[in-house]
Amino acid sequence: MKQKESWVCSECGHDQAKWSGSCSACKRWNTIEKFIEVAELRPRFMKAKTRPMPLKEIVLDKFDKIQTELKEFDRVLGGGIVQGSLNLIGGDPGVGKSTLMLMIAKELCKSGKKVLYVCGEESLEQTKNRADRLSVAEDQLYLYCETLFSNIKAQVEELQPDALIIDSIQIVYKPEIASLPGSVIQVKEIAMECMHIAKQMGITSFVIGHVTKSGDLAGPRVLEHIVDVVLDFEGDPDLGLRILRARKNRFGPTDEVAMFQMGEKGLEEVANPSQIFLKERVKEATGSCIVPTMEGTRAILIEIQALVAASAFSTCARRASGIDPNRLALLLAVLEKRVGHHFHHLDVFVSVAGGLRIREPAIDLAIALAIASSFSNRPIDPHTIVLGEIGLGGELRSVPRVESRIKEAKHMGFKRCILPKKSLPKEMGALELVGVERLEEAIEIILK
Ligand code: TYD
Ligand code: MG
Repeated sequence: MKQKESWVCSECGHDQAKWSGSCSACKRWNTIEKFIEVAELRPRFMKAKTRPMPLKEIVLDKFDKIQTELKEFDRVLGGGIVQGSLNLIGGDPGVGKSTLMLMIAKELCKSGKKVLYVCGEESLEQTKNRADRLSVAEDQLYLYCETLFSNIKAQVEELQPDALIIDSIQIVYKPEIASLPGSVIQVKEIAMECMHIAKQMGITSFVIGHVTKSGDLAGPRVLEHIVDVVLDFEGDPDLGLRILRARKNRFGPTDEVAMFQMGEKGLEEVANPSQIFLKERVKEATGSCIVPTMEGTRAILIEIQALVAASAFSTCARRASGIDPNRLALLLAVLEKRVGHHFHHLDVFVSVAGGLRIREPAIDLAIALAIASSFSNRPIDPHTIVLGEIGLGGELRSVPRVESRIKEAKHMGFKRCILPKKSLPKEMGALELVGVERLEEAIEIILK
């Protein structure tokens, strides 16, 4: 059998033809390891003999999608679980990946599938315990505590399940590969094998992968091109809310997100996330501003909180949680230069209430106004929402999907929206729309 030899970085997964002391991609030292790929491996998951086909003659197989009772989960996948697909669920330890997969296993069993759940990370008793807690007691669900890949494969061949769940990919290993379980090389190899299981045997497969920052374990990032679907499960393990989003999906869109709340009996779908985020809001407090943000195709109202306080030290603090710290620095500079708020000797803290992480610039105006409100010690009208990206000149830039955002605000009972003049929609019923061009104007209106 022909073997192909390559050198792979165990940190970033970069592969190169020769050994070197430091990785040529991530520049870390002593991370390059030898990786032997059996040349025959690659074509195995394609049919034995194929020939080029004229495009016209190819008949499309409609993907068979299995629907579950977890409507939110189906929506993220684009309508259901595709049969024979390989799905990767990534997330921080403790976020609830095993819980989610056990619930999915139950759903699969309910639609008449036989499911094999490989729990390498926990004992059978621990998994059984969790299953009891989630009231999972399906006959067709098999638990198997194993980490050696060849054993797992043998059991898959014997049991012939319709679906396979591997919890987690970092713990499963092949002893013939010299690196440790969880290293990029092992993880890549196991993922390839799972791909064969999914495609050759038509077994719908889910693999769980931890995202770790330490670098000891390989993150699932290196697997992205191997699998069909990559789902990110995020949220603060201490806070109840969890967000599932599709980062890659070969069978559907990637802009849907699902929200869950971790409760006593597992994950529950959240129908109205805005309500949860605004639940603990203190009205008429300074430094609080409400903004509708987009999560996928859905608008959610969130509260941005800011605190500007005298600094006890010569270097003052700038802390951001849930937003990009660079964005905060930029907005502070704009406030200094264009509005004349001076922040030396002042600490500035900004956070997104509820632990959400927001990347879109449409919340700029809300951040700036929350800071301005705390700075000048004047509250923002509790029935007003704001929206807009801020440019370096202090000008407000247009934002996408204004209508759905305003609709959500209306639904939650807000009365007024301050937004960039360029994004003003035509008519939004009872909600008053105030179009502004510059940050100064917005501050003028809102902090009278
Ligand atoms: P787990 O699914 O084990 O996370 P992961 O597999 O991603 O590491 O669950 C994580 C946390 O969820 C754990 O701290 C306990 C909590 N939890 C609940 O709050 N309610 C429940 O019903 C279950 C099963 C877990
Ligand atoms: Mg787990």
